Amino acid sequence: MLRNKTCGELRIEDCGQEVTLCGWLQKSRDLGSMTFIDLRDRYGITQLVCNVETNKALYEQAKTLGREYVLRVKGIVRERSNKNKNIATGDIEIEVSEIEVLNPSDLPPFTIEDNTDGGDELRMKYRYLDLRRSVVRKNLELRHRLAQLVRNYLSNENFLEIETPFLIKSTPEGARDFVVPSRMNPNQFYALPQSPQQYKQLLMVSGFDRYFQIVKCFRDEDLRADRQPEFTQIDCEMSFVQQEDVLNMFEGLIKHLFEKEKNLHFGKFQRMTWHDAMKYYGSDKPDLRFDMQFVELDDVAKGKGFKVFDDAELVVGICAKGCAEYTRKQLDALTDFVKRPQVGAKGLVYIKYNEDGTLKSSVDKFYSQQDLMLFAQKFAAQKGDLMLVMSGKAMQVRTQLCALRLEMGSQLNLRDPFNYAITWVTDFPLLEWNEEDNRFYAMHHPFTAPNPEDYPELLDKDPGKVRAWAYDLVINGTEVGGGSVRIHNRDMQMRMFEALGFTQQEALSQFGFLMDAFRYGAPPHAGVAFGFDRLCSIFAGCDSIRDFIAFPKNNSGRDLMSDSPNFIDQKQLDELYLSLVPTEKK
Ligand code: AMO
Repeated sequence: MLRNKTCGELRIEDCGQEVTLCGWLQKSRDLGSMTFIDLRDRYGITQLVCNVETNKALYEQAKTLGREYVLRVKGIVRERSNKNKNIATGDIEIEVSEIEVLNPSDLPPFTIEDNTDGGDELRMKYRYLDLRRSVVRKNLELRHRLAQLVRNYLSNENFLEIETPFLIKSTPEGARDFVVPSRMNPNQFYALPQSPQQYKQLLMVSGFDRYFQIVKCFRDEDLRADRQPEFTQIDCEMSFVQQEDVLNMFEGLIKHLFEKEKNLHFGKFQRMTWHDAMKYYGSDKPDLRFDMQFVELDDVAKGKGFKVFDDAELVVGICAKGCAEYTRKQLDALTDFVKRPQVGAKGLVYIKYNEDGTLKSSVDKFYSQQDLMLFAQKFAAQKGDLMLVMSGKAMQVRTQLCALRLEMGSQLNLRDPFNYAITWVTDFPLLEWNEEDNRFYAMHHPFTAPNPEDYPELLDKDPGKVRAWAYDLVINGTEVGGGSVRIHNRDMQMRMFEALGFTQQEALSQFGFLMDAFRYGAPPHAGVAFGFDRLCSIFAGCDSIRDFIAFPKNNSGRDLMSDSPNFIDQKQLDELYLSLVPTEKK
């Protein structure tokens, strides 16, 4: 090895030792008679000193070294006179006797420090340099530790890690597929898996009974802070189990991660039905770090001549504790917030419960003090509280009020990223109506089993009301995982495809291999997949998953570093039987 110590491990006890370190020059300061160098590697930073009096040639050499030069240095560990409490090696420094330049470096395009001067784009372009920064490196270290903990836990529970293929058949459910042309099969395409869903079910048919995989998945969908086109799942499946068994097993996994990584101990996770999540929080991924539940107000809001409320399908609101003092400006800002196109509401009504016991609202024209007091009672509001009320189509207004609730939660500092509020959301609807396409889609995926209490009667009468045996794990308002009990009966699976508008022929041509497998003794099975990148970001208290992926894409799905996607040459196109379409034709 070129070194015998790292830049993070030397302590006061090591004084007097001769050591050899390798690393990158983070910064150097020439004080006239001495040059100090901060040498950095993955493990930390160690200060080097080159003294003009003890070694003039070395001192002169040190002055020529630039930032990010790769160095190998030999020297003696000495106690520092000026100790630095902020770093682990801050008690010592190396009195250097020899410096070897392993490789010089161009001046990096941004400073490689925690508070870098590089903007997002620049750091993405030079991602390999960004990864040298300790904040980014620590994220990947966390990711590694969590992956190890996942493997240990699941292996101990007898799960086998089995790889499934990346080149698979394109299927029309879920997000858009990324497709790959096949040279050997002209005009035919593979798809990259959106998840290993069907393969893990086939492994259950094969008798593996407990499978997991930490696996890349690919989805061609619109990107956001918590969505990447390629991301990683902890994908799991079990045989001979029911929903309760899956919830318990994977609650155990998540608790194990929190205990080992953060020394945080949780009791039994909360459970909430999808119906209640929508009713009280307007979202299937409620942020339960704070209360502020929705209160439905139709009976007190309607019939007083205020047309907006009278005509609405639902009047619903939240109560912000202690916010009656909000100024006109603050209230206008909240109205503007809900009117933004991303939220899309028409307006917002407020009712202040003043400290003197009077009520003041933006709709005083229509509601007397007694009327407003009925609102206050519904909210169980107290003096000093602010009630915020919205109205409209039920589902729409719930989503809009959810955005406002989250905004209020942020304004009131109720969303501490390290205060973990965890819940299972259960009893999702099996099907979801799509107005545009005028058909039902599977809310989770088409392999999810209906709740036997609702099947088959309700599927014929009112398909939208059938509950599924499907569940999500939600932490701090983020969907961290989702899964379901699967259909393992061929007839039921056929019936499900039918409800989704597939003809028998279409179902067989697209999912035939799974349907065939179901002929040969498919065991009852169920599973779940967790978004591993999201889990990492939540453990680190961050919103964006990008920082937990070594080489992520930007919001347009581009890798700025390698400049992909990109054009391929005509020869490659010809081999693949592909021809380009001018973009203006699309
Ligand atoms: P689902 O589609 O809910 O389920 O995905 C599981 C989890 O993966 C994460 N996730 C993502 N993370 C980052 N970027 C994305 N684009 C992205 N899309 C999803 C989420 C989500 O909860 N096969 C089923 C699981 C099953 O039924 O077992 C599936 O893929 O955290």
